[in-house]
Amino acid sequence: MCGIVGFIGHKHDAKDVVLNGLTKLEYRGYDSAGISLFNPKFRSFDIYKDFGRVAKLKELTKDAMISNVGIGHTRWATHGKVTKENAHPHYSQSKRFIIVHNGVIENHEELKAQYLANALFYSETDTEVIAQLIESFSETLSVENAILTTLKLLEGSYALLVIDTESPNTIFAAKNKSPLVLGQSEDGVTIASDLMALVGYSEKYIALADHTFVRCEADNVTMYNLNHEILPTSFLDIDLDEADADMGEYQHYMLKEIYEQPSVVRRIVQNYFEDGDIKISKQVLKDIKNSDRIYILAAGTSMHAGYVGKYILEELVEIPVEVHIASEFAYHTPLLTEKPFFLMISQSGETADLRACLMKTKKMNYKTLTVTNVKTSTLARESNYFLELFAGPEIAVASTKAYVAQIGVLAVLAYALSEQSFDLKKALTDVALSIEDFLSSQDVSSIVHKIITKRNCFYIGRTIDYYTALEAALKLKEISYIQTEGFAAGELKHGTIALIEEGTPVVALISNKEISSNTRSNLNEVIARGASTIKISMKKTSHKDDDIILKDVHPLLTPMVMVVPTQLFAYYAALERGLDIDKPRNLAKSVTVE
Ligand code: AGP
Repeated sequence: MCGIVGFIGHKHDAKDVVLNGLTKLEYRGYDSAGISLFNPKFRSFDIYKDFGRVAKLKELTKDAMISNVGIGHTRWATHGKVTKENAHPHYSQSKRFIIVHNGVIENHEELKAQYLANALFYSETDTEVIAQLIESFSETLSVENAILTTLKLLEGSYALLVIDTESPNTIFAAKNKSPLVLGQSEDGVTIASDLMALVGYSEKYIALADHTFVRCEADNVTMYNLNHEILPTSFLDIDLDEADADMGEYQHYMLKEIYEQPSVVRRIVQNYFEDGDIKISKQVLKDIKNSDRIYILAAGTSMHAGYVGKYILEELVEIPVEVHIASEFAYHTPLLTEKPFFLMISQSGETADLRACLMKTKKMNYKTLTVTNVKTSTLARESNYFLELFAGPEIAVASTKAYVAQIGVLAVLAYALSEQSFDLKKALTDVALSIEDFLSSQDVSSIVHKIITKRNCFYIGRTIDYYTALEAALKLKEISYIQTEGFAAGELKHGTIALIEEGTPVVALISNKEISSNTRSNLNEVIARGASTIKISMKKTSHKDDDIILKDVHPLLTPMVMVVPTQLFAYYAALERGLDIDKPRNLAKSVTVE
């Protein structure tokens, strides 16, 4: 949560680089935005900041002078309300040091009491403590040592950019837990929370490791550990395309990403299947096979993919699988079996709750595989193994194509672990075709009216459809703000059916042939109590009056298809309500705080 960007260079205007970067990072938080730019006329740094979006910041800075140095921030509030004062950049008491920060300083209260009792604070943020500490240590230490001394005192997470207004040709950076990537080109150095902000300005990048401190000048980058010892740097080529992060002809990223799903599934096929072989390291397969239980850890949508993964893995591999909420597992670990294997699922690869789990499993010396969309992410780098989703950048806060990709990759993993006679490559291709067929032939915008006029909504399903019901409900609530619950269809009658009244929308998901008549009975029970129903089925489970009938796919892969109409329901419900679809209130794409 929160995105930071800094630029120091020659050719580009720092304002453009930072604001373009912040626009791409806005998915990380959008409560407020700010920037500090070197003003060459007065040889000082100007700060522009306010609550609200980057678009507002662009207005605020429209008359700013061309500058070669700048740092910026887009905020998801953790400490302190959404106000101009709490927006970054923050400065030290004398305003000599200016900083932007992504992360949480857990011991900021203690540090304040111990070192800064007499300091004048300008904001309610934990971040400001960092600026104040640097200033206070700089009275007796060199600037670099003042920063390093400060870093050693910080508990928690930080991706940090620091400007010393007395040395305007340098940006200092530091990282622990929160992501930070540094890009370099002949034009200068760009440093940001996500690779996407570097695209167009850098050809090469380096993903910083934890406890790294960097001095960036336009032509020179020096990396240190916290003992001020120089670290080697090895850059990688940036293989992202600007077009990947472009909205194209679509009105919203979410809609674009929903429509990209067939190509995402095909990309998984291309990347994981080669000459009849599956491209997953033999070692990870061996480690999983040697385990007696797989523990899937994840949050939100990724956890729902985890449930489907459990279903597929247990079906194909016959290893017991447990799915746990990451934020619970991290602090209330269940009794583990003798030979557990941990599987983390995360679109961003940055979710702090999951990282807390990873720290724990590492401490216990257990092996971990992360399934993620971001190969440069913290979890991808810190786990023993990782599998890429190949979904391409997902910008909308509400996850769609990453969810479908997660199930696809979990299916590939399960398949590689098992001895199956069916053809998964073909089965996944059928999924792509089925989604494509639905997206090109059905218009759900009229059906959605049954949902949006109501204050609440229910999704019901049994077995594998129950997991889709959970994901469908999350999607609808997070972007349309309609209170929605996903329920195991058979469980309704044990209490929740009391909420059904005249017109309550109930969407039934019916893809499992063995149990479809039971789900239909449950549907009749709610119809008898006045519910207004929508039925989504596969061809082989359909009745002719079902609202949406999808082309059949392999029974284990139906969630990849069944979820798509529900994503569109959420999209059109939010559209009808005039809401900010790609950036729903209170949320952020990358949840880097616990
Ligand atoms: C999905 O639409 C969400 N916004 C959210 O639940 C998300 O899936 C969750 O925060 C986990 O994120 P991750 O996949 O990046 O770990």
